[in-house]
Amino acid sequence: VPLKRQLSDQMKKQLSGIAFELLYSIGKEADTLGMRAYLIGGMVRDLLMNRKNEDMDIVIEGDGILLAEHLLEKHGGQIRSHEEFRTATWKHPSGFKIDLTSARTEYYDFPAALPKVELSTIKEDLYRRDFTINAMGICLHQEEFGDLIDYFYGYEDLTHQRIKVLYNLSFVEDPTRILRGLRFENRFNFQMDEQTEALAKESANNLLSVSKQRISSELWRLLFEENPVLGMNRLESLGLMPFLLKKRVDSETAQKRYTRLHHSILSLTKQGIYPDRSIWISYLLSYIPIEEPDWSEVESYCLSKQEIKLLGDIHQIIHEKPLSKISPSQSLGDIHEQYSDIELGALLTYSSFCVSSDFDVIEYLHARERLVRKVNGGDLKKVGLKPGPHFRHLLLEAEKIQLNYPEYTKEDILAKIL
Ligand code: CTP
Repeated sequence: VPLKRQLSDQMKKQLSGIAFELLYSIGKEADTLGMRAYLIGGMVRDLLMNRKNEDMDIVIEGDGILLAEHLLEKHGGQIRSHEEFRTATWKHPSGFKIDLTSARTEYYDFPAALPKVELSTIKEDLYRRDFTINAMGICLHQEEFGDLIDYFYGYEDLTHQRIKVLYNLSFVEDPTRILRGLRFENRFNFQMDEQTEALAKESANNLLSVSKQRISSELWRLLFEENPVLGMNRLESLGLMPFLLKKRVDSETAQKRYTRLHHSILSLTKQGIYPDRSIWISYLLSYIPIEEPDWSEVESYCLSKQEIKLLGDIHQIIHEKPLSKISPSQSLGDIHEQYSDIELGALLTYSSFCVSSDFDVIEYLHARERLVRKVNGGDLKKVGLKPGPHFRHLLLEAEKIQLNYPEYTKEDILAKIL
């Protein structure tokens, strides 16, 4: 028997009016079709922790697609269905995107495969999930609206700040859950319980059979949390690094690098300058033997254009523009001439390797990222120039002058570059 708790008042208080109404309508519509609908997963967990989250994952005892079609008819919007999983995503006219999934038992053909699916009940659906804190539901059925469904003591684990798997083969079936576990530890300041941690260590080698793409999509989320150093330290302490990168420097060197990287990032974020998401790659790069780097391993984790550019830029600094070559007499403008198109993350990463240089990367990045350009393409057109590739060159000249002579006006700069 699941432990019950009534959450409708809390839902009303914490959720936006529209989110609350939507949940209510979904429950009601499911009722009229003889189905039962439950809010599950991260949003339930976050509601209990008073954290804002309106990513609605709904599990239906019944047919998710049929329910979505009825909701569409009544409320409008759009739906996208996945026949194979009897799942639909409903985009409500207000912009909310809601996943409506048919309750299912997932089973795996072999470890680390994507799950196959059979329709089932909410209890079985929840049991197949990653951690107890993510395996709670809230009933949307009208008469029991707001009842917490907690078969596996998720609420107790939440109050004890515990990350706990539901069954022993959890990490074997889906090794990416180990990385998810670290992410939740990090985000909530929770800890895996002893058994979960032991299972994580035992199953770590299964990470080798997971596609780099799946690992990548969990790793970036772990390393894009507020304090990636904690995440990195945990990857170390659980012995996961050998299964993520084969060629590595020793842990101590890597730790120095990623701690340095984090500090540099902090000193920029304090000034309102934020690296983009691809910066997670830089944490991974802390392990790369910089004297004889093998980029291909890290490259296999780079999926987005931004990540590929970041890696390319780091490569370029190392081979073509080592910061150690910069002399103290060079002005910010001169430095900008060389590094203007190098990603912020790439400069931070390189300097985290602590290849000695007199050049203060943070100072340069601060000046560059904060530069409010006084001259733009429009100004060049106004003085009668025809747009073309030379604009790029002129605008870079303008930036260089502005960095060296912050007091110059637009006219001063134009007079210099034309
Ligand atoms: N899930 C799982 N195993 C995975 C991925 C997801 O069991 N490898 C389940 C979890 O129960 C999770 C739900 O699917 O709560 C939704 O996944 P996701 O949106 O990735 O996780 P959230 O918990 O919502 O994480 P976040 O708050 O970061 O979005």
